Amino acid sequence: MCGELRLSDAGKKVALMGWCNRRRDLGQIIFVDLRDRTGITQVVFNYELNAAVHEKAEALRNEFVIAAIGTVKRRDADTINPNIPTGEVELVVEELRILNVSKPLPFLPSDTVLANEEMRLKYRYIDLRRDAMQFNIELRHKVALAIRDNLASRGFFEIETPFMTRSTPEGARDYLVPSRVQPGSFYALPQSPQLFKQILMISGFDKYFQIVRCFRDEDLRADRQPEFTQIDLEMSYPQPERIWEVVEGFLTAAFKTAGYEIKTPFPRMDFDDAIRQYGVDKPDLRLPAFTEVGDCFAAADLETLAINPELPVIAIRTPKVGELSRKERDDIKPLFVSKGGARVFEDFKRIENKHPEAAAKIRAQAGVAADDLLVLVVGSKQSGANRDAHPASKRKIRVTPAELAIYASAGLLRVALAQKYSDRHKLFQKGDFRFLWVTNFPMFEYDEGEKRWMAAHHPFTSPHDEDMDKLETDPAMVRALAYDVVLNGTELGSGSIRIHRQDIQSRIFHALGMTEEEARSRFGFFLEALEYGTPPHGGIALGLDRIVMILAGADSLREVIPFPKTAAAKDLMMEAPTPVAEGQLRELGIGVVVKK
Ligand code: AMO
Repeated sequence: MCGELRLSDAGKKVALMGWCNRRRDLGQIIFVDLRDRTGITQVVFNYELNAAVHEKAEALRNEFVIAAIGTVKRRDADTINPNIPTGEVELVVEELRILNVSKPLPFLPSDTVLANEEMRLKYRYIDLRRDAMQFNIELRHKVALAIRDNLASRGFFEIETPFMTRSTPEGARDYLVPSRVQPGSFYALPQSPQLFKQILMISGFDKYFQIVRCFRDEDLRADRQPEFTQIDLEMSYPQPERIWEVVEGFLTAAFKTAGYEIKTPFPRMDFDDAIRQYGVDKPDLRLPAFTEVGDCFAAADLETLAINPELPVIAIRTPKVGELSRKERDDIKPLFVSKGGARVFEDFKRIENKHPEAAAKIRAQAGVAADDLLVLVVGSKQSGANRDAHPASKRKIRVTPAELAIYASAGLLRVALAQKYSDRHKLFQKGDFRFLWVTNFPMFEYDEGEKRWMAAHHPFTSPHDEDMDKLETDPAMVRALAYDVVLNGTELGSGSIRIHRQDIQSRIFHALGMTEEEARSRFGFFLEALEYGTPPHGGIALGLDRIVMILAGADSLREVIPFPKTAAAKDLMMEAPTPVAEGQLRELGIGVVVKK
């Protein structure tokens, strides 16, 4: 292969096949960097040594595919290339076969400046020839293999589940497949194998996993694709800790294959603490937590500053960013997304001037060093007005919606500030992996639009035993046996212990405002299955694409998926989706109405 030859091979006769990566024509001598997926070897066509081959080589152009047969030669000391593993040798070509030609390319795999993303996706086969993409796809292969091996060695079976399934509750996001033999009926592509893996527990395959494609027709972002891959698993009789240990085991193997040691067990944090300390359910532990500093202000200070005393007053400390200039303070204003009336004080100096005592207390309480940036996020006077608007305000442990608005605004700003000034602090270091289990999620979330409670994870998640009595009376306070695994502020995976008893499942559907009939019509087969001796079970699913993205240091899933879709869910290479022929639609019994 083109990446294999070393000094010890000098004198050997070899044949290399690959693409002409770069060609330099010096007249009497033509150099070609010959490339395959393992690397590059310099091949030499020398007029004096072999005029016929040299003449043939004059026709070579970028990305021609050739076979070069010749003798490996030690390079002269002054022509050694220390940047590539084959840099001490070259191949002096005695026979050249041009296996294929190439049209001039829209961009070259060897280009140092990247083509724009539309071009990269349209000509994905050329983009994938680039070193970085070859590396990422190989990494993906190795990570998946390490995970598969690790789970198999722990007694998990990989079992395939169908892609043509039944449309289920969150059906709005299903991709549908029309049935030809039953016109008017549709299969749905699975958003996840959730129900099948639970059925597999009922079927006695007590440790299941699958590296499986899932499909979701949802709004896309850098970390979301319409088809993506889950490492999906389920076990019978587990405590959550047992599942966490399995996940920590395969992540250790996956990160090792990429050259990183990770520390287990991962720290754990209650959902409520995550919100209070970080303003999100996926805290990035590389950055300091918030400090609540409301008690540093005298009541009169709060009054003058128009700060709502009932809501959290949050100090965000970003280490080593230093004081901001006036222009920089203006720059950070757009980073602030105010949820429910949250306000930001980006100029701490002003507070320091007017309220020196409070400012000193805040500095002490938040442990602020001289070169730290400090901003405050507070509730403005009006924002408390409707804090009792819905039942969640009865929460004692969980935060009220008005408080949540402040925490969430501060949480977004905390991350945005650190990202904006990442060149000043050393908080985002390559290979610094801060994993975290976030546990005890709320069972339900209140949907203001629909005016009803929704399952925060999914309706098969088990509530905490101790909270069962609040299912009907105080849903906001019911905690779920649900957990997320988080890495550096990204949700890698989500799972839960499931409900394994039909009577409890019925109560949950009831709490979600579903009648017995509705539940039966949606999940009848599953509710029936629960009644035939279902063992306690639970599991989790992690996003493989996200894991590889982080390991590759990439900032979009598109960098680690060979054939991804754009933000508009298009495949630019194939140009999918497309309209289909009238006849095809007729056979499927489908008429199309185009919305104007
Ligand atoms: P959930 O919906 O949280 O849980 O998904 C689990 C993990 O899958 C990844 N993921 C995605 N990755 C890329 N693009 C997407 N559109 C996308 N959506 C999700 C994330 C996420 O953490 N059945 C449950 C799991 C369980 O309870 O066992 C489920 O699918 O990394």
